[in-house]
Amino acid sequence: MSEDLNLLGISGSLRRGSYNTSLLETIKTLLPPGMTLEIVTPIAIPIYNGDDEDQTGIPPSALELVGRIRVAHAVVIATPEYNFSIPGGLKNAIDWVSRVKQQPFRHKRVGIVGASGGPIGTARSQYHLRQTLQALEAYVMPRPEVFVSNAQTKFADDGTLTNEATRKVLETWLKHFDSFIRQEGK
Ligand SMILES: Cc1cc2nc3c(=O)[nH]c(=O)nc-3n(C[C@H](O)[C@H](O)[C@H](O)COP(=O)(O)O)c2cc1C
Repeated sequence: MSEDLNLLGISGSLRRGSYNTSLLETIKTLLPPGMTLEIVTPIAIPIYNGDDEDQTGIPPSALELVGRIRVAHAVVIATPEYNFSIPGGLKNAIDWVSRVKQQPFRHKRVGIVGASGGPIGTARSQYHLRQTLQALEAYVMPRPEVFVSNAQTKFADDGTLTNEATRKVLETWLKHFDSFIRQEGK
C-alpha cells in the first residue's frame, strides 16, 4: 500500500472570494484516497524588513508557515498574477520563510497552479514563482501546468468551479503531481 500524503496548499491571494483559494478548494475535492490538503493564506505576515528581523527575529506568523511547510510532504501554491508577476503578499511570505536556518523549501516538492482574470491565467507570475523557488532549491513539478484564464467565467460566486474542462485539467494535473511527489530521492 502507498504512503498517505499530506499536502499544504498556499493561496497567494489574501482576498475573500479569491479564485486561487477556490482553485485549491477544488483540488481538495479531487484528491485521490490517502492524500489530504490543508489550505493556508499568508495573511498576517508583516512586510519583510531586515531591521525588524535583526531586532525581533522572524515573526510568529512566518514561523508558523515554516512549520507547516516542513511537515507537509509537498506544497501546492496557487498564485494570482499582479502586474505580470508574483503578488507582493506571496513573495513577502516566501522571503520571510527563506530566512530561517534550513529553510523548508529546500528539496521540497512543489506544484504551482494559478487563476487570473486575464487571458493567460497567471503564466507570467508562475514563471517568476518558479524562478524564486529555484533560489530556494525546491523541486517544482515541470509539467503539466495549470493556467486558469478568465477565471470570472469559470467559478460561481460561491467559489464552485463550474468549468468542466478546467476540472479535467486539474484531475490530470493531480495524477501527475501524485507520482511526482512519490518519486525516489525526495
Ligand atoms: C494589482 C493587481 C494587478 C493585476 N495584474 C494582473 C495581471 O498582470 N494579469 C492578470 O491576468 N490579472 C491581473 N490582475 C487581476 C487578477 O487576475 C484578479 O484580480 C484575480 O481575481 C486575482 O486573483 P484572486 O481572485 O485569487 O484574488 C491584477 C489585479 C490586481 C489587484
